[in-house]
Amino acid sequence: MPKYDVKDLSLASKGKLRIEWARKSMPVLGIIEKRFAEEKPLKGLTLGACLHVTTETGALAATLKAGGAKVLLCASNPLSTQDDVAASLVKHHNISVFAIKGEDHKTYYSHIHSVIDGKPNLSMDDGADLVSTLLKDRREMLPGVIGGTEETTTGVIRLRAMAKRGVLAYPIIAVNDADTKHLFDNRYGTGQSTVDGIIRATNRLMSGSVFVVSGYGWCGRGVAMRARRMGARVIVTEVEPLRALEAVMDGYEVMPIADAVPIGDIFCTLTGDIRVIGKKHFQKMKDGAIVANSGHFNVELDLETLAGMSKKRRKVRDFVEEFTLKSGRRIYVLGEGRLINLAAAEGHPSSVMDMSFANQALVAEYMVEHHAEMTRDVYSVPPRIDREIARMKLQAMGVEIDKLTGEQKRYLQSWEMGT
Ligand SMILES: NC(=O)c1ccc[n+]([C@@H]2O[C@H](COP(=O)([O-])OP(=O)(O)OC[C@H]3O[C@@H](n4cnc5c(N)ncnc54)[C@H](O)[C@@H]3O)[C@@H](O)[C@H]2O)c1
Repeated sequence: MPKYDVKDLSLASKGKLRIEWARKSMPVLGIIEKRFAEEKPLKGLTLGACLHVTTETGALAATLKAGGAKVLLCASNPLSTQDDVAASLVKHHNISVFAIKGEDHKTYYSHIHSVIDGKPNLSMDDGADLVSTLLKDRREMLPGVIGGTEETTTGVIRLRAMAKRGVLAYPIIAVNDADTKHLFDNRYGTGQSTVDGIIRATNRLMSGSVFVVSGYGWCGRGVAMRARRMGARVIVTEVEPLRALEAVMDGYEVMPIADAVPIGDIFCTLTGDIRVIGKKHFQKMKDGAIVANSGHFNVELDLETLAGMSKKRRKVRDFVEEFTLKSGRRIYVLGEGRLINLAAAEGHPSSVMDMSFANQALVAEYMVEHHAEMTRDVYSVPPRIDREIARMKLQAMGVEIDKLTGEQKRYLQSWEMGT
């Protein structure tokens, strides 16, 4: 048995069945796993992963192991671990997992340190907490690390800030920025699972509700799209003119958050920003307003201030906390302001994670082959990997597309022919 810290190993059989279910919708990762098992491209590599411990991550961990890597895994959010999956990875896949759903801040970081204790050569992050812990507290481990990968927008922003300030210690490939990642995972994955998380937590009817989406990036547009199709009246708040304009042209009402707070029934932030909803907003919300976040960190809602403004707070359902303001009005915060799709639902559906994690697996292989040519910077996923994943996904879905003829290829590379 590997080293581990999970909630309960007796949950392993349930986790095994759930990972099996996820793998049915992950055909691209399955093809990669088969090749990895034959070629062992990750042989001798110790891979430290700080990812949401979900069924899909279970499938990825198995793929990386099939490729010859030793895998150590901790959670990238205190509330996103699926304890049955963590148990199954330890028991059935011999993978060192350090993750318990609901772990406190101290345990969260001690689990990251447990992964680092295993001397990873490659880091796989979702939010950059593993890299930042290595840089801040465990610099003695840096010489052994050849590179890393990053799964999410917020992590890429943090890593670019590290590169800009010259503190990034090894090359990183930004998996989030691959088209086969953010165009699908952030949009359709976060879109569906965020609305799913809000509904599972509250059982409220979307139809007829006023749903306020803050941030019209890839995640925000996915949530807006799904909420609208379920009958909600969707309001978008933004800070970037281009994104706001897209939301207007997509048919949404766009206004400042200060104007949206008195009319919204349900609020969801997906900005990657801090204090998007704060004191002056909570003060103006309707009695019974529901507030959630699906951006990476729990800083988008100023919950500390909300607590200070409240005379009473109590848990009223799983993942629903009621804050009663001094005025008597009540505000309901979902999942402690953490990613609601992972806190109250199961995270992204497997079919989109198939592409995100195919990127992770192929990029890990690429990093092993090319790390010596790379510098301490944040790199894009090579376009050939992105295209190959799109091709494999279409093939797995049974979708055929046209091919350029010789004449079309020549035409598209020429300039002579005009009107
Ligand atoms: N819940 C999940 O499973 C999940 C999945 C993928 C990404 N994420 C996270 O979701 C967040 C958004 O990701 P994305 O890919 O959509 O990023 P993005 O950069 O495409 O979009 C973010 C948008 O928020 C806007 N914004 C910033 N500050 C704002 C403010 N104060 N008010 C209103 N809008 C503001 C930006 O202008 C931008 O358009 C990130 O933190 C990312 O890491 C979560």
